[in-house]
Amino acid sequence: MKARIRILPQTFVVAALLAGAACDKNPEPATVSPEPPPPTDAPPAAEPPPPAEPAEDPAVAEAKRKEAENKQAADAQIAQGKDLFAQHCASCHGENGEGKGKHPPVVGEKALLLDAPKGAKKRKGQQFQTAADVLTFVQKHMPLKKPGSLKPEEYVAILAFDLTANGVSLVEPLSAPGAANIQLGRQPPPSTEPAADASKGDKAEGKGKKKKEDKAEGADKPAEDKK
Ligand code: HEC
Repeated sequence: MKARIRILPQTFVVAALLAGAACDKNPEPATVSPEPPPPTDAPPAAEPPPPAEPAEDPAVAEAKRKEAENKQAADAQIAQGKDLFAQHCASCHGENGEGKGKHPPVVGEKALLLDAPKGAKKRKGQQFQTAADVLTFVQKHMPLKKPGSLKPEEYVAILAFDLTANGVSLVEPLSAPGAANIQLGRQPPPSTEPAADASKGDKAEGKGKKKKEDKAEGADKPAEDKK
């Protein structure tokens, strides 16, 4: 029993040495040697997936599409109106509607004013409150020598052009009923004191802003919803 006890540590040491030598030799190359680079013909691991399109609300997408379509249709109508104006109206009202002699302007700051120009015969006493009033007048009296000779939609197209030329922006094609919603009420340009006009503009803008701010918390949203 004693002899065994003495021997055991020795064999253990030898075994440990042997084992240590064996262990040192084997794992070392495995851990130290750098991994060979991956074969170059391997598919590139880093192909980034296409960024996912932010999912758009279909209703929003549809509204956007419709909006673009309306704008395009309006532009086509305006272009048609421009051609028709050149054909049927420009000989008297000028190539750009600027007016000529006795023929009043239909484009510019003196055009389509609320009150008829001085000396107007056909239009005497008729106000242009809305675009529909212009349409009614033009359909009845223009072209001067051939009143009512164009198709209704041609008059509407000419009006669409004329309104646009006067700074009205159309987000959809003009229609005869729609014309009634376009307020004109244009006043003659102030011949003096342009500053007065500017201050008016500022006031109007300020008011608009204030209104929006007041609305900020959606105070009037419920009212809108009720409608
Ligand atoms: C032969 C010349 C002539 C042609 C062509 C003509 N007009 Fe006129 N237009 C006039 C005259 C003149 C007046 C003024 C009528 C009046 O009130 O006495 C007028 C008035 C108008 C007015 C009202 C202007 C205002 O401020 O009172 C509009 C709008 C108008 N024309 C649009 C047209 C359009 C659109 C066409 C083409 C479809 C056209 N005109 C073709 C001669 C013409």
